[in-house]
Amino acid sequence: MKELSERTKDFTDSVIRRMTRIANKYGAVNLSQGFPDFNPPKQITDRLSEVASEGPHQYALTWGAKNFRDAIAAKYEHFSEIKVDPESEIVVTCGSTEAMMATMLSITNPKDKVVIFSPFYENYGADTILSGAEPIYVPLVPPDFTFSIEQLENAFKQGAKALILCNPSNPCGKVFTFEELTAIADVVKKYDAYVVTDEVYEHIVYAPNKHIYMQALDGMRERTIVCNSLSKTYSITGWRLGYVIANPEIIDRVKKVHDFLTVGAAAPLMEAATVGLKFDDKYYDELAAHYAHMKEVFVGGLEKLGLKYTDPQGAYYVLVDVSEFGVKDDVKFCEWLAQYVGVAAVPGSSFFREDVHNLIRFHFAKQDDTLNEAINRLAGLRKAVAEAGDVEWR
Ligand SMILES: Cc1ncc(COP(=O)(O)O)c(C=O)c1O
Repeated sequence: MKELSERTKDFTDSVIRRMTRIANKYGAVNLSQGFPDFNPPKQITDRLSEVASEGPHQYALTWGAKNFRDAIAAKYEHFSEIKVDPESEIVVTCGSTEAMMATMLSITNPKDKVVIFSPFYENYGADTILSGAEPIYVPLVPPDFTFSIEQLENAFKQGAKALILCNPSNPCGKVFTFEELTAIADVVKKYDAYVVTDEVYEHIVYAPNKHIYMQALDGMRERTIVCNSLSKTYSITGWRLGYVIANPEIIDRVKKVHDFLTVGAAAPLMEAATVGLKFDDKYYDELAAHYAHMKEVFVGGLEKLGLKYTDPQGAYYVLVDVSEFGVKDDVKFCEWLAQYVGVAAVPGSSFFREDVHNLIRFHFAKQDDTLNEAINRLAGLRKAVAEAGDVEWR
């Protein structure tokens, strides 16, 4: 048999999804893969029931149903104060995952360099490999996840064409400040590059932090490509609805790439989710308050247990520092944790380019009972470690 693809031969199983399988195997509370265990807003699911009989059930326009794009444009303008043309500046995709892939295939050539902050959301590595681009990693240094503007500029001196900016950030919960975003924008403009944003957590931000849209900064309207999604904002990760917002020249290209990748997002789901895009501010305030509550339950619980963590400014993840247990291999530690303590986390090393093995990531988009159960189980962690004897992770 002929060799399979060289390009994808080093792809590994997603560590996050592997941890979910391990959680299921040991009956652990699964705080690894980030999805809510509560229902989407009822108005959206009620509308889905109507759509099931009314339709549409056939292909929508490849770059997204018109009413859905109109609603995205209106919502984006409301929050960012940027007016976008739903015809020429928006493409609806199958989640932000496809938005990012279609963008990368639209703007990069093989061997183009793309800057990625590390730690990073695991798909970005695969996105660069699939598009043939080469990543240059710039560290966000724990525990504050600050970066050096010199290191960023050095990356662009090597000819980087674009930067992927995850803001608010998964896994570290960083919300970039106006000063940081301005400094990034200045470098990007100086080297005539693009910023590709991943803003799926735009509405999950903890006061006093605020989400600032990169595209709204001076001179960034044309060179920012926004990738976003309805997955997190409306608790519909399984619906696979996302979008790209960019200038018409870029969108023209993304439309074509998207057409050949997936043809289009699911027509009935776009129709049902349009209701959500039209929610007023109250919905987003309540969403933020709900996440602030979940954060209080889980991160507050970690605090009471005396575990070391970085307080997230946004998104719904927390990185816990497990150095006190002498962890040398965080992957083995997470497997052990799921089996013997009964809580599943993601090993931090899967997010870092640097040699970091002392952090593990929990997500807290869960109901109180689930989070309290996880905290109760974690209360036994120190004792379990003390009794662990010879373990592979030390
Ligand atoms: C930073 C980030 N971007 C994108 C995604 C995937 O988004 P979607 O469901 O829209 O493909 C996730 C999911 O966890 C994420 O954390």
